[in-house]
Amino acid sequence: MSAVQDYLKSNKERQLSELLDFLRIPSVSADPKFAKDVRRTAEFVKKSLLDAGAGKAEIHDTPGHPIVYAEKIIDPKKPTVLVYGHYDVQPPDPLELWDSPPFEPVVKKTPLHPAGAIFARGSCDDKGQVYMHVKAFEAMVATDSLPCNVKFLIEGEEEVGSKNLENFCRANQAKLACDVILISDTSIIANNVPSLTVGLRGLSYLEVEVIGPNRDLHSGVYGGAVGNPASILCEMIASMKDKKGRITIPGFYDDVVKLKPSERKELNKAPFKLNAYMKDLGIKETKGEEGYTVIEQTSIRPTFEVNGMWGGYIGEGAKTVLPSKAYAKVSMRLVPNQKSEKITKLFTKHFEKIAPKSVKVKVTPHHGGEAAVTPTDTAEYLAAMQAMKTTFKKNPIPVRGGGSIPIVALFEKVLKVKTVMMGFGLDSDNIHSPNEHYGLFNYYKGIETIPYFFEYYSAMKK
Ligand code: BES
Ligand code: MN
Ligand code: MN
Repeated sequence: MSAVQDYLKSNKERQLSELLDFLRIPSVSADPKFAKDVRRTAEFVKKSLLDAGAGKAEIHDTPGHPIVYAEKIIDPKKPTVLVYGHYDVQPPDPLELWDSPPFEPVVKKTPLHPAGAIFARGSCDDKGQVYMHVKAFEAMVATDSLPCNVKFLIEGEEEVGSKNLENFCRANQAKLACDVILISDTSIIANNVPSLTVGLRGLSYLEVEVIGPNRDLHSGVYGGAVGNPASILCEMIASMKDKKGRITIPGFYDDVVKLKPSERKELNKAPFKLNAYMKDLGIKETKGEEGYTVIEQTSIRPTFEVNGMWGGYIGEGAKTVLPSKAYAKVSMRLVPNQKSEKITKLFTKHFEKIAPKSVKVKVTPHHGGEAAVTPTDTAEYLAAMQAMKTTFKKNPIPVRGGGSIPIVALFEKVLKVKTVMMGFGLDSDNIHSPNEHYGLFNYYKGIETIPYFFEYYSAMKK
């Protein structure tokens, strides 16, 4: 092991400069304008895996963005770890809120990252975390210390719902056969409080349209008599939650698993300071479902959120108009046992039902995915725990994450393989938002920790 760690120490500058090159390619999957850049990024990933020592690396075209697959098989009798990650990123908008351009990475210090952090879209989610695996793999190969087989599945559509990955997995079961899936696309509690993610929420995402009069109207001539779709949309959305913060869609909670008091107690043992949380966000009060702590509200309870809303005049100055249409993008985070498709149907039915006669509504489902929980009594969990303990000098705390990686549930369904989620970001790294960054400490700590996971896992599987 010391050979790997020595190798890592003497290659730090290159590990960083290569990541910065990776971050310079704008791999925005949501916007077709970036399709060529997304492809260039896939090629970058393929080349970096080959350079690191993969025996084979391929780009698989899909109806959407390409999937990169690579492997190094040292002995078919040894266990196989499949590393999953995504090279696509969220759109960087709104651009004017970035302190430096999103695809021109810079390293700057922050209070939580005194050693410096890389500011760029994708630095934490997930290019920086994917590249930790590439560099850890390179070190293990270069020092002849790779203890098992490795496969890489790095996709380009995670941020848009992994639309083509399920088909790819179904069509390539033999190629993807493995003993465990390792993902670094989540966070730790703090740089001195390591944690492992043992659960993720599911998602149901929809777009709604409220249609009123057949054209935009003068708000003075018609206002007062004609239902305003923007106001009606607001009322409809406001009615989706009651005073206690509970979602009012009939049947919404039917399948939610209630945790035992002992399990809730365990969850709330994770360090959490409400005042620091509110201060960081610039809010005076949190506003969640009554009867649950912030930790619970953001992990084991389902939610309803408006992601965006528009309609009528939103340009400069004022325009007196009663708009013909209003829109919103809404999403619900789901917990284990809730089914995304069922929730989408329940929402649609309810939304159509609560619409007043003065408007028509149209509901269009986007993507969705199921929640996941990962067991903590497996070789992979123990190996990840030991690996983090080795490098952080502290046992990691198991936490249920609030975000979603729908492919985790799919891997279990299609490949019948469990996942271990060993991410290294911080929740405050601004993923999906302006000034996304990733700590140098976190990047290097990840590269240092991953080889230990491989070593411990392979030893346990012997
Ligand atoms: N890496 C995130 C998910 C995440 C972040 C999990 C932090 C736990 C902690 C992932 O890239 C992501 O953003 N997923 C989307 C879901 C997808 C279907 C668009 C999400 O959670 O919104
Ligand atoms: Mn991610
Ligand atoms: Mn993301």
